[in-house]
Amino acid sequence: MGKPKVFVSRLIPEAALDLLQQRATVGLNAEDKPLGKAELISRIGEAEGLVCLLTDPIDDQVMGSLPSLRVISNVAVGFDNIDVTAATRRKIAVTNTPGVLDDTTADFTWALLMAVARRVVEGDRFARAGKYQGWGIMLLLGYDIHGKTLGICGMGRIGKAIARRAQGFGMRTLYTDAQRVDERLEKELRAEFTDKETLLRESDFVSLHLPLLPDTIHYISTRELSLMKRTAHLINASRGPVVDEEALVQALRTKQIAGAALDVFEHEPKIHPGLIELENAVLAPHIASASFETRTRMATMAVENMISALEGKIPPNIVNPEIYT
Ligand code: DGY
Repeated sequence: MGKPKVFVSRLIPEAALDLLQQRATVGLNAEDKPLGKAELISRIGEAEGLVCLLTDPIDDQVMGSLPSLRVISNVAVGFDNIDVTAATRRKIAVTNTPGVLDDTTADFTWALLMAVARRVVEGDRFARAGKYQGWGIMLLLGYDIHGKTLGICGMGRIGKAIARRAQGFGMRTLYTDAQRVDERLEKELRAEFTDKETLLRESDFVSLHLPLLPDTIHYISTRELSLMKRTAHLINASRGPVVDEEALVQALRTKQIAGAALDVFEHEPKIHPGLIELENAVLAPHIASASFETRTRMATMAVENMISALEGKIPPNIVNPEIYT
């Protein structure tokens, strides 16, 4: 029996590609940009496996056009780009890459938090523009982080990694989630469970770590922003549509909140023009997990999931295990 065919939708780290090539006949879009839907379908063709990225929307129509497709391996922990319900109905396995990016994403979330609170990007722009004329006691004043209150929305793996970092800054940590974590872990993380409204009212920094689901779309909108302190900052390294960008632009313009730092946007890769004009917004191009080590680990994990599924095993990071019952 020949090797199974797998298509890789976009350039991935070489180590992962090498591993895949040992076990499969690999078709590759060697460019670092997504293919359009029609081209993606035609390039996947008869492949049994698809290794894709979060920039590839894999909907029911795509799957319906690919009768040979058995496995979709997403190189991301989030899988909102894939219609999992349709995949399950079609008995197509879907996998993701949980765990390997938690600390890298938490490090970057912390970088965003510090950048917006201490005006790092503004300071850089100021210095490059030749505006620095000497030390000034009132120059670019920001907000302290140590000793403040951090509100974590979504206490999953990344939320917990954020809580661990907050301990080093002597912060009070609040969190909200559909489910409370167990008491022993709460103690270890020094995190207090609370409701969303209390968290928004009391936090100096609100950090979002929620998956994108129908009920997390616009989790932060006008009302939520109005509950936050005028000195508070919003950090989002989860998914863009979790925040109502129009409402955020208004809140930042009117100084309803002090600032925001965003790694993700509601209509990626578009960024709301209002955000681009604002000095109190720090913007990053969805790079929270972008370290050499972590991106290689994510791609390797996706390939391992693929190989395992093609070998007829239940892959370690299966999103829809019910297809095997
Ligand atoms: C993910 O994995 O879901 C991130 O958004 C990209 O690393």
